[in-house]
Amino acid sequence: MKKIVIALDGYSSCGKSTMAKDLARQIGYTYIDTGAMYRAVTLYSMRNGIIKNGTIDTEKLERSMKDIHISFVFNPETGRPDTYLNGENIEKEIRTMEVAGWVSPVAALSFVRKALVSQQKQMGETKGVVLDGRDVGTVIFPDAELKIFVTAKPEVRAQRRLDESLAKGESVTFEEVLRNVQERDLLDTTRKEGPLKKADDAIVLDNSDMSIEEQKEWLLEQFNQVVTK
Ligand code: DC
Repeated sequence: MKKIVIALDGYSSCGKSTMAKDLARQIGYTYIDTGAMYRAVTLYSMRNGIIKNGTIDTEKLERSMKDIHISFVFNPETGRPDTYLNGENIEKEIRTMEVAGWVSPVAALSFVRKALVSQQKQMGETKGVVLDGRDVGTVIFPDAELKIFVTAKPEVRAQRRLDESLAKGESVTFEEVLRNVQERDLLDTTRKEGPLKKADDAIVLDNSDMSIEEQKEWLLEQFNQVVTK
């Protein structure tokens, strides 16, 4: 069966990564979480005094890009890949509200995008990959054989993110999460480089009223249609 590139783009917290990870596991493809890479750069910046006093020292970050090495290592316990920063497993640390609060401005920096997009292109060179992000179908792999654009109502997305945060023991409110979701939507769709936008040939999926099972089934069907064509 031919190997393809699957691009899942869309708004934050609309379940793209769950869909992408599950599909990758089901069909034996490699999953690449492009958002985790922007989160890793953000965590590095927070830890190394690049983000401090409410600002990003962009010159220092640009100089530091060569010292930031991101990789994914399959975790047999979860059946999914974990994100590593310079050899350290940072999967948990990059999912906090603090990182979420800084990641969009970091992801808007053109030298950050250039560096990560080039790594992402390399990671998907051999095909057989599922990538989720904002610019996969428009910038990283404009020739991807299957492109999905995922969306859901902001309130639904905020509730999903809140449930996740509370389950992890974080103390956040619905209003805080909703504000973060809306701020990120705005920054992600209006930035100059690689803004979030639907590729002309992407299929739209609004999953506001769908269960995870329904989404999985729908996605597998889209995949089967492309590979059996
Ligand atoms: O998918 P996520 O929430 O983990 O993404 C984190 C942030 O990274 C999000 O605010 C937008 C940014 N991002 C991006 O600019 N380009 C991508 N390909 C993936 C994520």
